[in-house]
Amino acid sequence: MRFLHAPAMKQDILVIDDEQPILELFSKFLSRQGYAVEVAESLASARTALANREFHAVIIDQHLSDGKGIELIDEIRSSSPTAAIVMITGQAEVSLAVEAMQHGADNFLTKPVRLNDLAVFLKKSLEVVSLRRFEKISARLKQRGPLFFGTSKVMGEALEMARVAVENDGPVLITGETGVGKGVLARWIHENGGRNRAAFVEVSCPGFRGELLRSELYGHAKGSFTSAVHDQAGLLDAADGGTLFLDEIGDMELSIQAQFLKVIEDKTYRRMGETKLRRSDFRLICATNRDLPAEVSAGRFRKDLLFRLQVLPIRIPSLRERKEDVPELVRHFLAESNYQYRDLAPDVMQYLMSYSWPGNIREMKNLIERALLLSRGTKLTTQHFTGLWQQQSPMEEPRPEKKLNDLEQDAIQKALEQSGGNVVKAAKALGISQATLYRRMKSLRPQ
Ligand SMILES: Nc1ncnc2c1ncn2[C@@H]1O[C@H](COP(=O)(O)OP(=O)(O)OP(=O)(O)O)[C@@H](O)[C@H]1O
Ligand SMILES: [Mg+2]
Repeated sequence: MRFLHAPAMKQDILVIDDEQPILELFSKFLSRQGYAVEVAESLASARTALANREFHAVIIDQHLSDGKGIELIDEIRSSSPTAAIVMITGQAEVSLAVEAMQHGADNFLTKPVRLNDLAVFLKKSLEVVSLRRFEKISARLKQRGPLFFGTSKVMGEALEMARVAVENDGPVLITGETGVGKGVLARWIHENGGRNRAAFVEVSCPGFRGELLRSELYGHAKGSFTSAVHDQAGLLDAADGGTLFLDEIGDMELSIQAQFLKVIEDKTYRRMGETKLRRSDFRLICATNRDLPAEVSAGRFRKDLLFRLQVLPIRIPSLRERKEDVPELVRHFLAESNYQYRDLAPDVMQYLMSYSWPGNIREMKNLIERALLLSRGTKLTTQHFTGLWQQQSPMEEPRPEKKLNDLEQDAIQKALEQSGGNVVKAAKALGISQATLYRRMKSLRPQ
């Protein structure tokens, strides 16, 4: 495919980090790799840079002086949907990395970042981005194929509860880590139950702060608050006869919880600014990835509401707890995306089974999509799965023997990382003067 060859034009990269020495290091390194590099030291300057130019890739450090790097991802995704985004996080921030991926980052690297890894990750991400434009795999994977949950015992127990939920009408509370399929299971229960001819109404609690959630759920009368210019029906109205799915219920504010408990018990409510009592016969399903009993102990969630919600509790196990389901799930997603070879090579499956899957099924789908894009119709190998999980990688990629220069470069980088970018400390740790450190950084020659 012609578009895969090295482009004649330089690719524009924006590096965002508030540590000057790291910026210099990355910038110099990437320039030598043939990229046109721009740097930004804060969210504010990154926004200016992004407004002035379209970048092929953006590398973002999560910790910036004026906010969190993750805040930028949505903005970048809406202004340059095809840009590759690589997020850099601390070692103990796997959940943050997963969150970044969910916001649309293509890849993440954990600190300390090795320059060679940066180069590989950037190249892979740029490649995926360019392929994504031409391939339809991602659309195919996003289509709603038949669900497959796996056959492990732990998942079997969750599905048994889900079947009970299908046959009963009481409130269901679905818990589990991010990406395990809580939303998917909620819809499945609705679609297989007696209310499937009526609406499945989904509300994500974190999306509505304060009065907004109340207004969304109950509706409001014209003039009940400043922006209420019309009468508006609430989602409870829409869920009448059907299912109300409250996602991330752990985020519901305490001030709303007491009133909502009463609504669940009486199935009646009032629109904001109205006295008329309305009735809605909805079936309630809630989901959360928080530990609600712990939230109760911390005083952030009402105990009586929790009791009411978990009449039918369903805990979806993480993929780590059901490694035996990994091969079947992988085969399922491959079949769904029309992978043309009969099966995966055993070493690839082994590789996937030894991974910890912090992002669960969502991450699995993403990884498979990337791998299929990168393999361009050839048989999948472990190489097509590298990138996403640098830290937990079960197999290190073979590294070429190090040259003296590389060793020096590694030592400097490590010292800078350990000192949090502080050149004085880094120089001390390396046993050289600050001036020497700057000079060495300047003459750095990556292979
Ligand atoms: N059994 C399944 N079969 C096919 N796809 C699935 C299955 N379970 C989950 N998925 C897919 O995995 C992704 C994550 O699912 P879902 O959004 O339901 O997870 P979640 O537990 O609600 O995550 P979060 O806590 O982040 O909201 C979706 O793309 C969904 O389509
Ligand atoms: Mg969800």
